[in-house]
Amino acid sequence: MNSTYHKPVLVHEVIEYLDPQPNKLYLDATFGGGGHTRAILEAEPSCKVIALDWDTKALELNGERLQQEFPDRLTLAWGNFTNTKKLLADNGIQKVDGILADFGTSQFQIFERAGFSFARESALDMRMSPSHQKMTAAELVNKATAEKLSDIFFELGEERYAHRIADAIVEARKKGYIKTTTQLADIVKHAVPLAYAKGRIHPATRTFQALRIYINHELENIKMFLPTACSLINSKGRLVLISFHSLEDRMVKQFFKQKEIDGIAQIITKSAISATDIELRENPSSRSAKLRALEIL
Ligand SMILES: C[S@@+](CC[C@H](N)C(=O)[O-])C[C@H]1O[C@@H](n2cnc3c(N)ncnc32)[C@H](O)[C@@H]1O
Repeated sequence: MNSTYHKPVLVHEVIEYLDPQPNKLYLDATFGGGGHTRAILEAEPSCKVIALDWDTKALELNGERLQQEFPDRLTLAWGNFTNTKKLLADNGIQKVDGILADFGTSQFQIFERAGFSFARESALDMRMSPSHQKMTAAELVNKATAEKLSDIFFELGEERYAHRIADAIVEARKKGYIKTTTQLADIVKHAVPLAYAKGRIHPATRTFQALRIYINHELENIKMFLPTACSLINSKGRLVLISFHSLEDRMVKQFFKQKEIDGIAQIITKSAISATDIELRENPSSRSAKLRALEIL
């Protein structure tokens, strides 16, 4: 297993906007496969990085090797980024000189953890960190009302057939517990119109995305993380954020605007930065990535 499981997105742009400086300290709040952490360490040979993730597997499989490569410059920490202040304090750190967060899930998790991919049969779990999330996607799918499921698919997946899919799930579970990814993908495929099922993306893509965001409390976590992150950056340091979902990006955009109005920070990306055509060809996962950056005054 290796970190090439996750190809980091917008790497040049992350380095340009984070702008690592000699002897300064940076936080990578979403270590994942470690691609961005590596890029920061390589871009400025005297800076240090503290990297966190709530996925123990990601830290063990991708982090330990990178730490051997940069023994005095990389610290790894396990936990939820909503708890960043305490995680830094536990490592004797009050403030850092810049923070990067690359939200969402990694390709590594899609391969290594159960439930994320409809292309591979696995238990319908979808928890990025079983220590932080109690409810699995299977529990939700088998217990929630049709209304609740429909709301989740519509709001978090922007799924236009949310109603139909929710009704089909409730119907299917009368025959037995929905246990696996492929079972759910099949139910979705048969619930939507044929033309949609044969469309550019797999018909279960939006349903799976919505369940993943819900199960991992992704939007709530980002909402809590933003003010904490801002308060932990030294003057002239930057907060660089990559979102993959329009609701995430909207939250980041509004938060940045408010910080500018409050006079404590300046937005340094006029509009969201997206992947170039070259990157899109090399890494289709960068398709919906949007980067925004803020400098603390
Ligand atoms: C898109 S990946 C990051 C990839 C990484 N930038 C790289 O270069 O490989 C997102 C990572 O954030 C982690 N993550 C998501 N939400 C988190 C949270 N609330 N606290 C800590 N880590 C989180 C996930 O476990 C995942 O490993």
